[in-house]
Parts: sequence; structure tokens; C-alpha cells
Amino acid sequence: MTERLAADTAGLARAAELLTNGALVAFPTETVYGLGADARQGEAVARIYEAKGRPSFNPLIVHVADLAMAERFGRFSPDARRLADAFWPGPLTLVVPIAEGAGLSDLVSAGLPTIGLRVPRGETAQALMRRFDGPIAAPSANPSGKISPTRASHVLDGLDGRIGAVLDGGPAEVGVESTIIGCYDQPRLLRPGGLPVEILEEALGQPLAPAPATGSPNAPGQLASHYAPGAPVRLNVSAPVEGECLIGFGPDAPRDALNLSVSGDLVEAAANLFAFLRKADATGQRIAVWPVPHHGLGLAINDRLARAAAPR
Ligand code: TXA
Ligand code: MG
Repeated sequence: MTERLAADTAGLARAAELLTNGALVAFPTETVYGLGADARQGEAVARIYEAKGRPSFNPLIVHVADLAMAERFGRFSPDARRLADAFWPGPLTLVVPIAEGAGLSDLVSAGLPTIGLRVPRGETAQALMRRFDGPIAAPSANPSGKISPTRASHVLDGLDGRIGAVLDGGPAEVGVESTIIGCYDQPRLLRPGGLPVEILEEALGQPLAPAPATGSPNAPGQLASHYAPGAPVRLNVSAPVEGECLIGFGPDAPRDALNLSVSGDLVEAAANLFAFLRKADATGQRIAVWPVPHHGLGLAINDRLARAAAPR
């Protein structure tokens, strides 16, 4: 049975207790809901892979309360520290070399010499980490390859009965996953996400290097088909055909579309993206998506849409 916990003192205490006991607890962050386990307990981390049906080569992000705690687990270069100072807590994951004696389960990094660390700014996530006072390994709380959850009900749709509890902190504010930056040589963009690339490059004073080629040791285990609804997805559609449910964007999209943001606001669109993909999927029709501009959060939105539309 999966416990439903409110994000109050009693719920947070129970969530921390379950984590200590090696159980899985889904919890809200400002990006999406994560499926958490104590990152130091190998068996608990193994349960994450099992509950999600996740390929074991895909490493997990470790969530911590602040930079001081992050430095117990990873080695921060001057660039990494600059980004952490500027954007933590927030929708940014830094992949850095693992610190000596970090004490994390090997399953967390899936054999890589690096570790993904993140300080989320969501209020409930912050409260849980203060209460638990330890590293929480957490991928998005969805079955592997499916749409990421931005509500507690989405988590239950995919994982009810397979996890210990879900902590309900309401809808996720940002709606797409964190931006992932590799800081083990020159700063690299490993995944576009909730923190726009333009803002990161401005803070660094230099452009980000691209992700290493797939197959190389430091490449994130990103599969092409990901975030997949049941129905086929067609992108950049300005003329939907009969039998398609249209996800729109901006004032020019048809009035009857599920519009991510009528005013054309990419922040609002990111927050709506995964819930609207679920809604469109539930109509039983094929899914068509209006063009979304490719700047700011549009990079993350278009990345997730391309994966949803990829051949499977
Ligand atoms: O916003 C988020 O990042 C959410 C919330 C829950 O924090 N988490 C999330 O986790 O999206 P997940 O597991 O769905 O995606 C993590 C990505 C994966 O593509 C993984 O391959 C990459 O991070 N990753 C983690 N550690 C890495 C490492 N050491 N090197 C390269 N990529 C890494
Ligand atoms: Mg995911």
C-alpha cells in the first residue's frame, strides 16, 4: 500500500522515517516529483530502479539541503561553485567528480566517476531534506520512459502500490526537469531544463560546451524515446488533421486547442507541459503539437517534446 502524506509536520516526519527505513518516498520539487531513497543505502537505491523499471546504467541525481552538504559528496571546481552560489536552491543539477569517502551507494552513479547533485528550492523538498538530514537519490517519479509527474496524482497513476509513500505538495511550479551541467572538465550542457541556458552562460561569462557523444563514459544515459505518452505525437503542427488532439502555444493557436500558454509565456508553458500531454493522451486521439519557440525554457520544452515524438 502506498501511503498518501500531507506536506505538514506529521507527513514530513513520516516521510523522513520511511526514507531512514530504506523505503521509497515520492516528493515534490519545484521541477517535477522525485522518487526518493536514502542515497547511502544500496538496497533502497536498488528499489528505485526496480519500481521504475529503469535500465541500471542510468545514474541518479542526489538531492541535498545546501552547498555545504553537496561538498561532502562531490568536488567543486571554481566554475561549479560559481553556478551553485548563483542558482542553488533551484532547477540546476551539477555533475561533478565524486568526493573521496562520499559513502554513497555505487548504484547512484551507475559506475561513473562523477555524481549529479542538486539543491531543490521547492518548499516541501527543502523541509523534507532538513528533516531527513541526508542525501536523497531521486529520479523523476514515473515508470521509466513515461511522462514525468507534476502532481501527486500523476505519481500514483504510475507507481501506486510500488512505493512506500507520496508526499503531496501540490503542483510543481516549474514543470520540466532541472538543467544538467557537467563540471568535470569545461562546463557542458548535458540536458536543457528549468534554468535557461542563456542565464547560465551569462553567469559563467562563456558559452557552454556540448554534451559528450553518446556512448562516451560521461554521457548521461538519455534514451531517445522518453517522456512517451501512449499515443503517437506529431510536432510543429500548424494544421492539425481529423483525429488529432492539438496542444497549442501562443495567441495564434486554434481556440479549441489545449493551449500551453495563450499569451505565449514559456514559463507558463513549461509548467503545463506534462499535465497537458497526459490530458491529450487521455482523449484517445493522436497528439499534434503547435510550434514552440526555441529560446529560454523553449529549449527544455522542445527537448521533451522531441523525446515524446521519437520512434519507439
Ligand atoms: O528536476 C530534476 O532533475 C528531477 C527532480 C526529481 O530532481 N530529476 C530528474 O531525474 O529528472 P532523472 O533521473 O529523471 O534524470 C536525471 C538525468 C538522467 O538523464 C541521468 O542520466 C543524468 O541525469 N545523470 C545523473 N547523474 C549523472 C552523471 N554522473 N553523469 C551524467 N549524467 C548524469
Ligand atoms: Mg526522468
